[in-house]
Amino acid sequence: EKGTYPHFMLKEIDEQPLVIRNIIAKYRNEEGEIELSQDIRDAILASDRIYIIAAGTSYHAGLIGKQFIERFAKIPVEVHVASEFSYNMPLLSENPFFIYISQSGETADSRAVLVQTNEMGYKALTITNVPGSTLSREADYTLLLHAGPEIAVASTKAYTAQLAVLAILSADIAYSKGLEIGFDLTQELGIIASAMEALCGDKEEMEQIAREYLATTRNCFFIGRSLDFYVGLEGALKLKEISYIQAEGFAGGELKHGTIALIENGTPVIALATQEYVNLGIRGNVKEVVARGANPCIISMEGLEMEGDRYVLPAVNEALTPLVSVIPLQLISYYAALHRECDVDKPRNLAKSVTVE
Ligand code: F6R
Repeated sequence: EKGTYPHFMLKEIDEQPLVIRNIIAKYRNEEGEIELSQDIRDAILASDRIYIIAAGTSYHAGLIGKQFIERFAKIPVEVHVASEFSYNMPLLSENPFFIYISQSGETADSRAVLVQTNEMGYKALTITNVPGSTLSREADYTLLLHAGPEIAVASTKAYTAQLAVLAILSADIAYSKGLEIGFDLTQELGIIASAMEALCGDKEEMEQIAREYLATTRNCFFIGRSLDFYVGLEGALKLKEISYIQAEGFAGGELKHGTIALIENGTPVIALATQEYVNLGIRGNVKEVVARGANPCIISMEGLEMEGDRYVLPAVNEALTPLVSVIPLQLISYYAALHRECDVDKPRNLAKSVTVE
């Protein structure tokens, strides 16, 4: 039920702090430490490479999951779009482990790969929001998102829940290998939930940004480096699917290799700057587009902000910023769709779960 909300999407965006707190509670043991079941842990520890398979927004979560797993747990990860994997299968390592990320657990493209890897005898884990879903039943292991039903076609709370569960998985594997991740994940996720709350309380500002940059534009670009690049991909997908504005996310450094040709006077460019080690790099990219007439909207983070930034996010752990930086992008897309009188919860041509290949 939508309750007092005009749309499910807005309700689901607002539920994100609660979902994160819920996930912390579900994956914490009695001592307050993160803990996965021993069988999942053992299966992952026995593998030499992880293959993440997903589609759409879940694929975008997978790209960030790769960073978490490689940085914390030190296991190499490949991320693949499900529909490409089957007929374009990479050379697999000796002991592969498969992670299927799917909000619905019903995506046919992902299931087709699972059927294949099951036949090959490889172990698989499904990260899903729906207990008993097809992908959950057919994989060896399941981790639930505990996000509550997601009704709006555009995925929001499932994405941040996927990131949180992937972070938890990565930290758990790191701990069991005796590796330090350098911070207390439950504490940092708590800080993230509070930051999300602050952002959800700042809707007028998000509506204003949508009005300023997206009310009449034909296209929009999202740029970032490192983790911010992947969040930009998700920001672009969100904007495309509900506002029908042509949007593209790309790595800041790739601009000069082609996309910069599309920048015209007034083209909105949303730049994320949440990572200290690439802060100057992304700022340089913003200068490049501004010199060609772009209308830049820099979203930075406390501690990294510079004059002229349009929005400054509350500071969170630098390894986990995607959980927070995606919120303004979700809200900006929502308001852009609203201003353009689009059907926010049921965008044209799309279904909530794609059960055909
Ligand atoms: C985007 C969106 C889709 C889904 C994709 C995968 O907002 O909802 O891109 O993410 O169809 O769906 P699941 O995660 O259910 O496998």
